[in-house]
Amino acid sequence: MADATGNVDAKNYGIGVPVEKKAFFLKGLDHYDWGIKDRMSRIFDSRSGNAVMLAFDHGYIMGPTSGLERIDLGILPLVEYADCLMCTRGVLRSCIPPEVNKPISLRVSAGTTVLTELNDECLMDIQDAISLNASAMAAMVSVGGKYEATTIRNLTKLVDLGMKYSIPVLGVTAVGKSLVRDARYLGMASRVCAENGATFVKTYYCEEGFAKVVAACPVPIVIAGGKKIPEDQALQVAYNAINDGASGVDMGRNVFQAGDPIAMIKAVRAVVHDGEKPDKAFQLYNDLKK
Ligand code: R5P
Repeated sequence: MADATGNVDAKNYGIGVPVEKKAFFLKGLDHYDWGIKDRMSRIFDSRSGNAVMLAFDHGYIMGPTSGLERIDLGILPLVEYADCLMCTRGVLRSCIPPEVNKPISLRVSAGTTVLTELNDECLMDIQDAISLNASAMAAMVSVGGKYEATTIRNLTKLVDLGMKYSIPVLGVTAVGKSLVRDARYLGMASRVCAENGATFVKTYYCEEGFAKVVAACPVPIVIAGGKKIPEDQALQVAYNAINDGASGVDMGRNVFQAGDPIAMIKAVRAVVHDGEKPDKAFQLYNDLKK
């Protein structure tokens, strides 16, 4: 029973001390509810404002990609250095021990492999994303592609559900084989994701005008790394993207296919969280490389 009498008198009311009003640290999310902010705060570090997400969902579209043949050997050693893991539910359940206790950006759209162009994508049931304690749900959005309407409908449906259960939605801009990854296209695709309610957006970096892509997207952007390039160039891309206003990276092949993946993810962290210049980060990579 709670005591009704004999308790210490309450006296620390802080009369005259105004309650501190703090803006949420991620752009465009001030008016979102507590659950969304809590999950986004697990993915993004509030000190740097950025995130190093490790993407290894490639198998769902590419099969046993180089570096991902054995998730236990190729990915598990990297997990401790990632702020968030981006993967499918299949690999999550089969290969990732729950004890790693990392936020998950769950790939929830499916329907395509590299053997075809983008197909009529579907979404998995949100019940399973909830069961897996996903911190975000990621869906492919193909702006300008044959299945544009399907993928935008998927995003819209996912945002409806995400808002109901306070799970952020990551809009992933898929660039079809016939489209160009320039600022005009990426800016449009990212904005379309944000306008349709994506909590954050994953897109590609482009050398010309990426700052405009970020500026015109009202919610945080993280970049995909794309095909494997030399480590110094990948670090330069990460640096440029952050410098242009991106809130992090969701990198896969340029980490797990690097000469030394652990050294690479540590060097990426130095760029993303500490603002390390690319030449210094590459030096760090070489120093750490086994
Ligand atoms: C995106 O649709 C893929 O599934 C990957 O998550 C994404 O491309 C990031 O990986 P990478 O850095 O290898 O491009």
